[in-house]
Amino acid sequence: MDRHRSLRMTLLLAAGAAGCSSAKSRDIAVVTLAEPQAAADDAGAADDPAAPAPRPQRSAGWMQEADGTVHRASPVRCDATIAQRACAGTERSLQCRTDADCTEGPRGKCVSSFGQIGPYCGCEYACETDAECGPSEVCVCKGTGALREEHSVCAKALCAVDADCPGSTCGLSAYFNGCWEQVTLACRTKDDACQSDADCAPDANPGVACVVPDIEGESARWECAGISCAIGRPLVVEGAPRAAQPAARDDWRAPAALDVASLPPEVRERAAAHYAAVAALEHASIASFARFSLQLLALGAPAALVGEAHRAALDELEHARLAYDIASRLAGRAIGPGPLLDAAAAPVGAGVAEVVEALVEEGCVGETLGAAEGRELSRIAADPALAAALARIAADEERHAALSWRALSWMLATFGEPARAAAERAFSRAAARFAVDPAPGPLAHEALGLLPAHALGALRREVLAEVVAPCRAALPGLSRDNARAAPSSSPRGASA
Ligand SMILES: [Fe+2]
Ligand SMILES: [Fe+2]
Repeated sequence: MDRHRSLRMTLLLAAGAAGCSSAKSRDIAVVTLAEPQAAADDAGAADDPAAPAPRPQRSAGWMQEADGTVHRASPVRCDATIAQRACAGTERSLQCRTDADCTEGPRGKCVSSFGQIGPYCGCEYACETDAECGPSEVCVCKGTGALREEHSVCAKALCAVDADCPGSTCGLSAYFNGCWEQVTLACRTKDDACQSDADCAPDANPGVACVVPDIEGESARWECAGISCAIGRPLVVEGAPRAAQPAARDDWRAPAALDVASLPPEVRERAAAHYAAVAALEHASIASFARFSLQLLALGAPAALVGEAHRAALDELEHARLAYDIASRLAGRAIGPGPLLDAAAAPVGAGVAEVVEALVEEGCVGETLGAAEGRELSRIAADPALAAALARIAADEERHAALSWRALSWMLATFGEPARAAAERAFSRAAARFAVDPAPGPLAHEALGLLPAHALGALRREVLAEVVAPCRAALPGLSRDNARAAPSSSPRGASA
């Protein structure tokens, strides 16, 4: 069954390639605080007698302070058990068959799981000591702090132990950013925006915690952050997606009439946090389309494209209102957006390369995935009002994706090589970004429109291969390299 045929044909038409053949069908390979033990070694600990004395270390291993922060006093040996059931070989989709197929990390195990698309096999990796992880990585034990992984994981580490952070501690940041679980170790400093979750007013801001959201920089900073990895069109400023913090207000709600009475309180609260984050991302998309409209004007785009971009901003406004209403009903209190502050007023860059790269990653890829995900979620949502809201969003996202492909087609034809090179770079980055499964989110609840992580990863790769790749290949001048999304396993600790 070719369930993405309609979406593919719509976007091929938008890209100006109505006569192109559709993607050939193919089998989609689905990808799919431990107790400290004896210190393994002291490797990685700086020993600088001139440095200020670190916070006194009461013992070895992972330490949890009264304010909830977790830091690493010394290396520990983790339990590397992966308790998930081994792949039987009879699952519907097989990314691996035996443990021998899992070679991308330490102690690979081919495990069996069940997701939206049925049973599948995928690789999981665990570690016992830092020595099994890559350079600048450490092994984080299962159950440490806020880590949700079901086994130990290798995580990017800007410090290994407290002694690497003179006068401070080497803190563990573990949080779900909306696409995967980011696990990082970084020094805490007095210049950080927050010192603990309490600084982020967690009661008023569900899902927000004091974490290290930027894991790419060499000097990561602790700040209040929640779900930031967006499907759709995020508002990206200085390389990071931005969204407003939640505020207690009810003037950003469009009635969704969701029935929440039968849901347990814990499920309601977690789902509320999820939809509050979704709403904030939809709200930020309004600013993103406003910026895109200005970029199109700056580049001399046709009136039709500028008009569509403005209409898309109004769609996003309605998406935000629907999502804030769903979040408010689930939470039992009014939730709306706070100010977007300087993010909404950030300078508008209008260079051809930066506009094309953002267009490809956020629009051609992000909105295409968003349209397919919205369709899937509306199909499985049990509540009719929720299903209707998701279907409305999915239909709009499909138009936004079509706008993106039309705009890319125009930019390639108008600006030639600089636009083509930028598009190639952006498609490659997007392929790498979605080649791994997201880590499990705060709640997997298909009836509430929250897919399990493996199912979401598999769906995204399916859409990349069956919709994005043929649309890309249909655009003149673009290569077919990287056109097929490689199936992959869960990220090891932190990944894209
Ligand atoms: Fe949207
Ligand atoms: Fe959108």
